[in-house]
Amino acid sequence: MNIQIFDDVRTLSAELATRVLTEVRLQPSLVLGLPTGRTPLPFYQALRAAPAADWSLVRTFNLDEFAGVSPGSPASYRAYMQRELFGPMGVADENVGFLNGTAADLDAECARYERAIAAAGGIDLMILGIGANGHIGFNEPGPDLHARTHRAQLQPGTRASNAALFGGDVSRVPESALSMGMATILQSKAVVLIATGAAKAGVVRAMMNGRITTSVPASFLQLHPCVTVMLDREAASRR
Ligand code: F6R
Repeated sequence: MNIQIFDDVRTLSAELATRVLTEVRLQPSLVLGLPTGRTPLPFYQALRAAPAADWSLVRTFNLDEFAGVSPGSPASYRAYMQRELFGPMGVADENVGFLNGTAADLDAECARYERAIAAAGGIDLMILGIGANGHIGFNEPGPDLHARTHRAQLQPGTRASNAALFGGDVSRVPESALSMGMATILQSKAVVLIATGAAKAGVVRAMMNGRITTSVPASFLQLHPCVTVMLDREAASRR
């Protein structure tokens, strides 16, 4: 893993925005994998503030979406992405790949997503956050992991950390979600994982230096040949 440590979140986010924009300029039809959550918010802000780039050919696939939450709901990850990135950067709907948590058949929806990613030629650059429990996407720790896009049961801590999207009421956070699987993520050509804040320091250490284990799904990134881990000083404090 290539480790980069930054003085603060702002510098980290600006550097990642520069990397993404450089790749968009070099490869206008770049296929990006994208996360939601709190960590990438300053990165999306940095992209919005950056000099204009042509996003008309860029295609995106987000990692996950809540089951039972429609794309039009303000609590959906689809709505988050529209607010934070797709709307401001002018990413057209037809270039946005997203899981639909209200599809009639969720298993068929997961299979459709895998086909769509394959048809796009796979993901060129996957950007990930990491859960405090070591999840990537919604691949939660457990006795086993899923290779492909699947329906995932969310752990209590994961639901709690998403409560803000549901008016702070954790009981309204769905108990399940749809998520890319581990192989879907690991088949990306390049991966950048971002982690900020002291609360992530322990899991960052386990991910980078611990055993590869389903108890820390992010530890499987040790097997990928092209991973960059971008950390602020606090997240890097227990390496
Ligand atoms: C969200 C996602 C999750 C988050 C993780 C960290 O699309 O894939 O794995 O990246 O839960 O969330 P934050 O950044 O809110 O700590």
